[in-house]
Amino acid sequence: MVEEGVSLRGLNTLGLPATAANLVRVDSEAAVRRVVDHPHWGLAPKMVLGGGSNLVFTRDPSPLVIKVEVPGLRVVHEDAQAVVVEAGAGVDWHALVCWTLEQGLGGLENMALIPGTVGAAPVQNIGAYGVELKDRFHSLVAVDLITGRTVELDARACAFGYRDSVFKHSGFGGLAGKSVITRVRLRLPRPWQPVLGYLDLQKRMEDTGVREPSAQQVFDWVCAIRRAKLPDPAVLGNAGSFFKNPVVSAEQCRDIIARDPAIVHYPLEDGTVKLAAGWLIDACGWKGRSVGRAGVYEKQALVLVNRGGATGAEVLTLARAIQASVYERFGIRLEPEPVVV
Ligand code: EPU
Repeated sequence: MVEEGVSLRGLNTLGLPATAANLVRVDSEAAVRRVVDHPHWGLAPKMVLGGGSNLVFTRDPSPLVIKVEVPGLRVVHEDAQAVVVEAGAGVDWHALVCWTLEQGLGGLENMALIPGTVGAAPVQNIGAYGVELKDRFHSLVAVDLITGRTVELDARACAFGYRDSVFKHSGFGGLAGKSVITRVRLRLPRPWQPVLGYLDLQKRMEDTGVREPSAQQVFDWVCAIRRAKLPDPAVLGNAGSFFKNPVVSAEQCRDIIARDPAIVHYPLEDGTVKLAAGWLIDACGWKGRSVGRAGVYEKQALVLVNRGGATGAEVLTLARAIQASVYERFGIRLEPEPVVV
């Protein structure tokens, strides 16, 4: 059941070259447990791979790659307040969004077309157009890679933050590399209420004259908006936003605005201000540029792309050059969003 020398180029959306010395596909909690209980593989360092959409391979990963392929979509609970659905970690995220809409269940439509699998969604608390995974999260099932025990985690245990969770941290209390998420349960509140605060969605409402869109309508808008400005990984390798939007103090923001009045910024509830990293990168002249075979997408400076045959090192060289110029001009350190292996 362990495959040897598997190319990972087709298993990461940036299309970067890397080889798994050994790769095992798991389709259930029991399958993960078999790996943990295995006399040899149980002790080997492991890397968990989902859809590979938030990953930069700069080298070959740990001796054993666990490719999560747990299937399944079902409604597990229903009452007056909400419907709880459960999806296998190996299910494609967008397929889950489509399935819920087919069942007449709204709630995930703002997160349509986000690349990757269901199991990867909680790792970086995916989000788009005003809704984050944590806003719809119920619980998840994971298998501990040391004990083989199946555990259930609620939102609190996952410690969700902006593109962050306990699964991204390897230090004390962190779960990166220590467990495999096998199922995710989402809570879709009743009655459904649209989330239309984002400028792009407001614009669609104005342009179409639709004041009370259905979940399907919002889904269609989000798909159209994303398709217009984000590259399809099947056509042009990319990992979505490459940097997080930085958050600065109100004072820092005032200084920056004084120098660059056009800067796109969003005040947050706690008094801090979120800056649009895409705007900062764009302002430094990076849009459409390339370093080696890695480049900055023409329509959205926050997305780095593989122009064909790029290595992870080339992508990181480009990323560092962007970080350096944004730091030089604005004094802000951009933090990469994907996990670098
Ligand atoms: N902008 C520019 N130039 C650019 C790119 C953006 O001036 O090259 C400006 C835009 O005009 C806009 C602002 O920056 O005023 C923000 O851009 P956008 O609305 O496209 O959103 P974003 O900040 O680039 C974030 C998420 C996306 C998510 C969208 C919509 C992060 C790092 N990115 O992007 O998530 O889809 O909002 O909610 O938070 C992802 O994480 O991979 C991702 C795609």
